[in-house]
Parts: sequence; C-alpha cells; structure tokens
Amino acid sequence: MNPPKKCLVTGGAGFIGSHLVELLLARGNLVTVVDDESTGRRQNLARFLDHPQLRYVAGDVGRWSLIEEVTDDVDEVYHLAAAVGVALIASRPIESIERNIYPTELLLKALRMKAAAGKSIPFFLASTSEVYGKNPKSVWTEDDDLVFGPTTRARWSYGASKAIDEFLALACWRENRLPVVIGRFFNVVGPRQTGANGMVLPRFVDAALANRPLIVHDDGNQVRCFAHVNDVVESVVRLMDCPSAFGRAFNIGSDEPVSILELATRVVQVTGSRSKIEFQSYAEAYDEDFEDIRRRVPDLSRIRRTISYSPAYDLDAIIRELVGPSR
Ligand SMILES: NC(=O)c1ccc[n+]([C@@H]2O[C@H](COP(=O)([O-])OP(=O)(O)OC[C@H]3O[C@@H](n4cnc5c(N)ncnc54)[C@H](O)[C@@H]3O)[C@@H](O)[C@H]2O)c1
Repeated sequence: MNPPKKCLVTGGAGFIGSHLVELLLARGNLVTVVDDESTGRRQNLARFLDHPQLRYVAGDVGRWSLIEEVTDDVDEVYHLAAAVGVALIASRPIESIERNIYPTELLLKALRMKAAAGKSIPFFLASTSEVYGKNPKSVWTEDDDLVFGPTTRARWSYGASKAIDEFLALACWRENRLPVVIGRFFNVVGPRQTGANGMVLPRFVDAALANRPLIVHDDGNQVRCFAHVNDVVESVVRLMDCPSAFGRAFNIGSDEPVSILELATRVVQVTGSRSKIEFQSYAEAYDEDFEDIRRRVPDLSRIRRTISYSPAYDLDAIIRELVGPSR
C-alpha cells in the first residue's frame, strides 16, 4: 500500500468528482474537496462527509485566495470543476466559458509557483471528447485535429474552452516540467448523475421508470459510447500514478458504440416500461443554431498501453444498475 497522499479535488461534489473522492478515500488518502455547488450537491458525498480524512470546502475555485489556501499543502490536484453539458453552455455561455478557463489558469499558476519553489505537484485536468469538435473521423485518437464550428454557435465554446485548458496545462509541462495529465472523458454515466443539464441516459431512465415518453433528439442516429464512472475514476487515479502519463492527453471512456435510438430502446426493454419513444428537433430542444456531433467514438489504444485499461462494465450492465435491483 502506498503512503497516503494529500489530494485536492475541485468539483468533488459533482457526479464524477464524488466517485473520485470515494476512490481516493478508499485508498487511504487525505482529500480536500472544493465545490461551489453550482451543478454539484454536497449530498453526493453524504456517505463520507463525516470521514476523518475528508475536508469539504464550499467555494469558488475562481477565487485566488481560496486557491492559495487549498493548494498550500497538497501532493496531487484533480481539477474537475467546470460548467458541464451542452444544454448549460447553450443557455449560459459567458458563465460557462469563465468557469472553464479562469480556475484552470489560477490552479496552474499556483502549481507553477510551487514548482519554482522545488515542489512538483501532479495535476489532472478533466477534459472532454468535445475538444475534437466535429472531426469527421469514425474513431478519434488523441493527436487528431480539433474541428470546431463558428464562434457564432455557443455550443462550440465548451470544447474550445477545454482546449484552451489543455494548451495551458501542456505549456506548463513543456516550460516548467509541471507533471500534468489530461483525461478526455467521453460520455460518463452512473449513479448520482442527473439529467438536469441534458445528460441523455439519466433522462431516459427517469422517463422510462415514470412511463413518460423518452425524448430522442433529431433522428436518434447519433452514435455515442457510455462508460461507467467507476471505470473512469479508476483509470484517472492510475494515470496519475504513472509518470509516463505526464505531459500527455488520454481518451477515457468506452469504445462500445450505440445509437441514441438504440439506447432508448434498450432502456425501455430493461425497465419493462410502457413509455413511447418520441422525437424532438434540435431547434425545439436547444435553439435554431444548434449543431450536434453525429459520431463520437474514442480510440483507447494509448490508455490501454499506458495503464492496461480494461473497463469492467458494458452498456447492459450500466443500464441495469441505473434502473435498479427490482427490474
Ligand atoms: N459527465 C460526462 O460525461 C463528462 C464528459 C466529458 C467531460 N466531463 C468533465 O468532467 C468533469 C466533471 O463533470 P461531471 O459530469 O461530474 O459534472 P458535474 O456538474 O456533476 O460536476 C462539476 C462540479 O464542479 C462544480 N463547480 C463548477 N464550477 C465551479 C467553481 N468555479 N468552483 C467550485 N466548484 C465548481 C460543480 O458544482 C459540480 O459539483 C468536468 O470538468 C466535465 O467537463 C464530464
């Protein structure tokens, strides 16, 4: 067993962050969470709030005084705080861009100062498959081009803002030897994710369990890959333990493609629901200018080579877990 580390998790009250906190605590680490509860909930950590090795700080990582305080005595930083989800970005673009860029800049500045003083602190950046934009390749590898639409379409600002984070983190590795690891999450799903900001699988499961219609956007032929959050956080922690991962970006997720219509059909089958599947245009769901990505499938060769990544959950297991034990 490795000696305990002092880990900082920004966005630790969020969906993925809360699972990461659970894993870091289970490994015996001391964990500080900073979260402003903008989309996350302290309740996500309910089972651990009394844990002697967890410190919870309610606050905004866009504040320098807070960053200085929480990075003062830390061994590793996991930066997950961000504005997440295309629906949120479409409705509040200024706030989303600021939330995604400014805190990353502050955290990296604090860690560069530590590095200059002789302490090198590994930094994990939660990035996203959205950085590939609408690259037309059928499978995306980490060195592929980023292909964004015009700046007049707000949805591209999510991927572009995360791409700026990646550029900055990689620049800190190049110029200051700051050990950074970039994880580009594809669709991550599991317990504690809500459908509030448009996340498709929890939306479908909630609708099916209530026998309400499952709303599929456009024609439902968009292709996605869904990974269980436990597989994702396990791989994040293993990458941070692996010096050959420093200064690199990794696709993290599943490479089992499924169309959204097929996903809806499978959710209805597993739940035994009486729900119908209905279609809604992007214009109705978002706005007239909305542009979606038809296919989003990662090449996982790099992460497999680096940490022998092999997800434990397939899509059927994920849906069954979300639907609950009674079905
Ligand atoms: N869920 C996915 O499928 C997915 C896919 C790609 C990338 N990601 C990335 O993973 C990370 C976590 O996403 P998630 O799905 O858990 O979303 P989430 O909304 O549940 O988590 C984000 C957390 O960050 C917090 N937060 C936001 N701005 C903050 C600030 N300025 N200060 C402090 N806390 C702040 C929120 O309250 C929330 O708890 C994000 O960086 C996101 O971009 C997620």
